[in-house]
Amino acid sequence: MNRTELGKMVRPLVRELHAYVPGEQPKIKGLIKLNTNENPYPPSPRVLRTVRAATDGRLRLYPNPTAERLRVKLAKLHRCQPENIIVGNGSDELLALAVKCFVEPIGTRCSASPIKNGPRGNAALPTETVQYFTPSYSLYPVLADIHGASKAEVPLKPDFSLPSVAELKRGKRWDFHAALTFITTPNAPSGRGYSTRELEALCKAQHGVVVLDEAYVDFANENALKLALRHPHVLVARTFSKAYSLCFQRVGYFVGHPELIAALHKIRDSYNVNGLGQIAAEATLDDLGYYRANFKKIIGTREWLSRELTKLGFRVLPSQANFILAQPPLFLAKDWLQKLRDRKILVRWFNAPEVSKYLRITIGTQGEAAALVKAARQILAR
Ligand SMILES: Cc1ncc(COP(=O)(O)O)c(C=O)c1O
Repeated sequence: MNRTELGKMVRPLVRELHAYVPGEQPKIKGLIKLNTNENPYPPSPRVLRTVRAATDGRLRLYPNPTAERLRVKLAKLHRCQPENIIVGNGSDELLALAVKCFVEPIGTRCSASPIKNGPRGNAALPTETVQYFTPSYSLYPVLADIHGASKAEVPLKPDFSLPSVAELKRGKRWDFHAALTFITTPNAPSGRGYSTRELEALCKAQHGVVVLDEAYVDFANENALKLALRHPHVLVARTFSKAYSLCFQRVGYFVGHPELIAALHKIRDSYNVNGLGQIAAEATLDDLGYYRANFKKIIGTREWLSRELTKLGFRVLPSQANFILAQPPLFLAKDWLQKLRDRKILVRWFNAPEVSKYLRITIGTQGEAAALVKAARQILAR
């Protein structure tokens, strides 16, 4: 069988799919890696000890299928019930499950099985649309495409702030009945933070499910978790990857109404969260003081780096995340990417019209930030 014949076995949707492109994970020695918003500080000594102690004969057993102990701890932290929480293999898994759970693929809606009232009592729900602002997390369109759903992309304002409900109504592009709306808050890749008040106004106007993706919220001034407990159609997505130094273990979670959470549980893999990941996340919650001290350090470095780059002529956007979006001077952002790489510093550049003039720079340690400033000075001096 040749490659063309094999290719034909793949569904056309998959053949034509533009897959998500993750940030590079190069194996170059001595590289300063500021491209994937990882935390520069390791997990706490207590978390490392707990994970090490768990690498024993238990590895032959399946882990708890619902990450029960972790959900109990998370429920305590967020003052809700374990039924309000689903844990996933990273929040990415849960974002994908949300698309599967709440959105009809185009053309497959079955008229023989009328859809019951949605979370807000709308008999017409669900529809086929996944909606999000641009720019935001570049995984959302890929998830919609994988599912064969339709996409509604609505631009943020030029300064990456959220349009008000009145502006969205006037703009006529926003779908207040979209089956699923993703809002990245704080926004990625701009780092712009949004107030709970404006997010609530948007949620209230929305008739379908809203996922507030708070992957970076621990570096922000406020979070909108209470909206998930106040409005039944709102889910808040969190992750242990960024603020809690656990990318490697892949643990994220949703908080929301038990009915939506139960629906998501129905369609996940039986053992979707690996055992060491569960144990690491539980130990993390027992050691929050360590992590909160790291948030402070990262925020301090973010503000320092923003000031230093501004002095060098960069236009740095205000950030509420563990990265900044900055428009570099003198050369194109794409050229800066290479010039920094030549100096063993890896940052991220997105080839999308709204952001192609910027670099997205993850906040590393203070030493890494200083190395970046030094390299930028050298590049400008040439
Ligand atoms: C906005 C946003 N949401 C979710 C994620 C996924 O995080 P996780 O590692 O929990 O899958 C990312 C990762 O880059 C992100 O930027």
